[in-house]
Amino acid sequence: MCGIVGYVGNSSGRVNAGHNALDVVLEGLRRLEYRGYDSAGVAVVADGRISSRKKSGKLSNLLDELEGSPLPDSLTGIGHTRWATHGGPTDRNAHPHLADDGRLAVIHNGIIENFAELKQQLLAKGVVFASETDTEVAAALLGDIFRNQLKGNTADGGLAKAMQLACQRLQGAFTLLAVHADQPDVVVAARRNSPLVVGLGEGENFLGSDVSGFIDYTRKAIELGQDQIVTITAGSVEITDFFGAPAVGKEYTVDWDPASAEKGGFSSFMEKEIHDQPDAVAQTLLGRSDLNGRLTLDELRIDPQLLKKVDKIIVLACGTAAYAGLVAKYAIENWCRIPTEVELAHEFRYRDPIVDSNTLVVSISQSGETMDTLMAVRYAREQGAITVSICNTNGSTIPRESDAVLYTHAGPEIAVASTKAFLAQITAAYLLGLYLAQLRGNIFSGQIKDVLADLGKIPAKIQKILDSATELRELARSMKDEKSVLFLGRHVGFPVALEGALKLKEIAYLHAEGFAAGELKHGPIALIDEGQPVFVVVPSPRGRESLHSKVVSNIQEIRARGARTMVIAEEGDEAVRNYAEHVFYVPETPPLLMPLLTTVPLQIFACELAAAKGYDVDQPRNLAKSVTVE
Ligand code: M6R
Repeated sequence: MCGIVGYVGNSSGRVNAGHNALDVVLEGLRRLEYRGYDSAGVAVVADGRISSRKKSGKLSNLLDELEGSPLPDSLTGIGHTRWATHGGPTDRNAHPHLADDGRLAVIHNGIIENFAELKQQLLAKGVVFASETDTEVAAALLGDIFRNQLKGNTADGGLAKAMQLACQRLQGAFTLLAVHADQPDVVVAARRNSPLVVGLGEGENFLGSDVSGFIDYTRKAIELGQDQIVTITAGSVEITDFFGAPAVGKEYTVDWDPASAEKGGFSSFMEKEIHDQPDAVAQTLLGRSDLNGRLTLDELRIDPQLLKKVDKIIVLACGTAAYAGLVAKYAIENWCRIPTEVELAHEFRYRDPIVDSNTLVVSISQSGETMDTLMAVRYAREQGAITVSICNTNGSTIPRESDAVLYTHAGPEIAVASTKAFLAQITAAYLLGLYLAQLRGNIFSGQIKDVLADLGKIPAKIQKILDSATELRELARSMKDEKSVLFLGRHVGFPVALEGALKLKEIAYLHAEGFAAGELKHGPIALIDEGQPVFVVVPSPRGRESLHSKVVSNIQEIRARGARTMVIAEEGDEAVRNYAEHVFYVPETPPLLMPLLTTVPLQIFACELAAAKGYDVDQPRNLAKSVTVE
């Protein structure tokens, strides 16, 4: 939700003469556009005033606007890409919002919950609003405090002081960035429950919703804590709390290359990220076991005695990450014999869940910023649970607020539809399950070694699927005018069916539903009529035999009612050929690990079909990459 960038460069020419703020900000917005693309806007401070441009729609609209109406060169600027909450995606509601007679510009990510009350107070003071946004209320409040309460005095903190006072009155979740014409060399930012990181340059400093906002310029970053205000100039970074007390952030170095956040010759980020998957799985496995096949999850710094006492696991996540959690449930219960629940994070804390110090709560999140998941983790911690985060984004909020983190190493995921993060999450969840089983002595070490060896073979098997997808792609293109596609799966194939349907919904805007195959006769079979396309994820015939034959029976039942069946099956399963219009084989692998393979054809199918419809698969309508509001 919303991408934010801030920049201050140095005019003295000491270390770095500074870049043109607009160039830095636009480059950052290009990289952050995946966070929201309802509108984009920029503001720079130059010649003693603020100049800004904003435009509804994608960043390209703003670029066109800037072409016709350029901004002056400047060393201080802010920029925003919006995912609309308060007020539609119009030019007027686009950020930045101005206040203090146009001398102050503010951008915002999040929701100001008490905006209506504050707006009334400001209206009573004669403030005139130009938009329907909560952001403009925050801007007006900040402007009012700066001009009327602090009398525009820049000597005693100025804009930073005004930001402290404003934040003391704001409720909700927000990252705010502000620039003021009276303090041309400064960007001030505030953070509560919404992401913000500082980029440390030489003679220049940066702010971003995440590090991709400044990755072209520096890999040195600072994590900020909750309820903090940061003031950057070209040569300084000053952090305080909302009351002015000094605070320190945690410095770290970004370990990925800017090139890994480029399309690398693929037509979309999604396509590229599907092809990144062998690497995403391999990197997530790397260094997590020793030569004897023992898991060495050193980063899980939780007292082993506490983990031995765990009597329940709750996996919390949203969307695709929750489907990774469902896969985890099958594996963890199988290996550890610990009852494992999977719950959508937004449902969890509103139902008075039973959680105590023997409960292990595992959150799964690519971004580490999903507000629903963050709030659920906080709640679980308050109830005394042990919290472990499986996360792809270094330094993000959820891992920081958890007792321990197991990072997935999928690299930056830019496409809104999650692909490589999903496989990496499943991989990390397997590792966690095996680690717990090792610790608690649930399975023999030889068995763990075997599973790790099987996991080690997965990247090459994914590559094989990627290399032999021609027929699948053709099928996807031929189905671009379908109105509905159903997905069936059983056991670990069930979450795969759910994920296949979600991919199609979010990028191809096509009605798609995933069902547990066993549920068919309890209702969904009524959806089947002549020509209805159905993908079926068939379990391995080498697994529980009955499971395979039951799914084959399900296929027969729907075919008898006119369904066209596309089957994902394991190599060697010749029997299914008789029951399917199309069979897509994946290499043999142990049944529990199958989702790492069977998901891939469904991702390719969705991506190809959406592209054939002419849709922007990376930036599907109405969505944003990280959902940082509840
Ligand atoms: O960043 P997170 O993994 O916490 O995000 C969770 C969901 O919002 C995310 O998986 C979403 O469902 C994706 N768009 C699915 O492709």
